[in-house]
Amino acid sequence: MSSTTKVCIVGASGKLGQYMVEHALERGYEVVGVCRERSVPKLDRFAGRITIVPGPTNDPDVIRRAVAGCDGVLTVLAPWGVQQYSSGTAQAVLDHAEPGARLVFSCGWHVARDDQDRYTRRFLATVRLVAWLAKAVRAVEIDDQVEACRRIFASDRRWTVVRGSDLEEGPSQGLPVWSRHVGDPVLASNLTRRLDFALFMVAALTDDTVIHEAPAIVGRQAPSVLAHQQGGTEVEGAS
Ligand SMILES: NC(=O)c1ccc[n+]([C@@H]2O[C@H](COP(=O)([O-])OP(=O)(O)OC[C@H]3O[C@@H](n4cnc5c(N)ncnc54)[C@H](OP(=O)(O)O)[C@@H]3O)[C@@H](O)[C@H]2O)c1
Repeated sequence: MSSTTKVCIVGASGKLGQYMVEHALERGYEVVGVCRERSVPKLDRFAGRITIVPGPTNDPDVIRRAVAGCDGVLTVLAPWGVQQYSSGTAQAVLDHAEPGARLVFSCGWHVARDDQDRYTRRFLATVRLVAWLAKAVRAVEIDDQVEACRRIFASDRRWTVVRGSDLEEGPSQGLPVWSRHVGDPVLASNLTRRLDFALFMVAALTDDTVIHEAPAIVGRQAPSVLAHQQGGTEVEGAS
């Protein structure tokens, strides 16, 4: 999509969102950011360089205004909040983005694309525990991210759902490596730099090979990736 000039970043004020703003500006894209009204000051360092549409990201009116004329929409499916924040956000983007726009969404490995995703018992137990604890204190609605992705997978839009491993801060290691299936040995290290997660999201806007894919990503320098490369095994995105 070399003609992309205008992208909307939904959830721009979070950590991942701010990194995506940086990458998008570096590429010379015009950026429209959406975030909750109270989070607008978090974007002060981009003043004069991006347009901000304040409001709840699951408000269809807010999203309709923000995505107008955008060639691409990068959406953080928020892990926080209740009341269908993720699924409402995804639905608003699916409903209101321009026809033909590239839509890229973020979530975690816990969202399964199909029955070929393989999870360890430990991983599943951790997700269940976190979901239960979080719902108990009404802070997080992990199931709603799953519902958001179910709607995206069923859509005929030009979507990509990027599934992140555990994240850490730190300088870039380059574009993460990806696999179609959680449980693939190349992903075993389960760690990606947040800055590089954002890089993968922005790069997906111009990568048609990941349309209708849900790449599960891991850091390019992760031990499990290096082990695969030393063994001569080809991995997605490692070339
Ligand atoms: N953290 C991890 O280890 C991890 C692992 C795998 C995948 N991911 C994925 O990476 C993406 C970014 O996650 P992150 O953990 O790195 O956090 P993040 O980038 O800081 O993003 C959190 C987002 O949630 C919003 N938010 C926070 N509290 C909210 C509330 N009560 N109601 C509505 N929205 C709220 C934030 O908006 P405000 O700025 O307005 O607060 C922000 O847009 C998500 O899609 C997540 O599923 C994260």
